[in-house]
Amino acid sequence: MTVQRTFSIIKPDATARNLTGGVNAVIEAAGLRIVAQKRIRMTRQQAETFYAVHKERPFFGELVDFMISGPVVVQVLEGENAILRYREVMGATNPENAAEGTIRKKFAKSVGENSVHGSDAVETAALEIAQFFSGNEIVG
Ligand code: RTP
Ligand code: MG
Repeated sequence: MTVQRTFSIIKPDATARNLTGGVNAVIEAAGLRIVAQKRIRMTRQQAETFYAVHKERPFFGELVDFMISGPVVVQVLEGENAILRYREVMGATNPENAAEGTIRKKFAKSVGENSVHGSDAVETAALEIAQFFSGNEIVG
């Protein structure tokens, strides 16, 4: 077993519906610890950098517009196998395919407005955390 850190975003559809605490309750019940958290308004440049891997995809423009449409809560989560564990807790990208009890099943509105982001690998987790947090903001 390995203790890992992963990067999470509570997206604008969730902050708009006052679901920060609701999402955090699911995260904590799953055994993940929120070791850093801040509410920010992403700039267009930050969102484009963050989702650069998707820049050729047809939904890229819509995705960036959505991510800057309201406040987001960026977080670092820590726990055993946190990266995969949080992907399980989030559920499938499209909430119609998400398992019962997952964050996206409970809260997501659509495949685009799907309430949360979580890193998909060790390398991306490190890069994403570094984009939004300095080391002294993460307190494990
Ligand atoms: P995320 O990166 O946000 O954690 O989500 P994910 O890995 O489950 O999904 P990914 O394929 O990386 O897509 C990133 C985000 O783009 C939006 N999306 N829209 N309209 C569409 O068909 C579509 N497909 C993806 C979602 O907000 C998705 O989370
Ligand atoms: Mg992704």
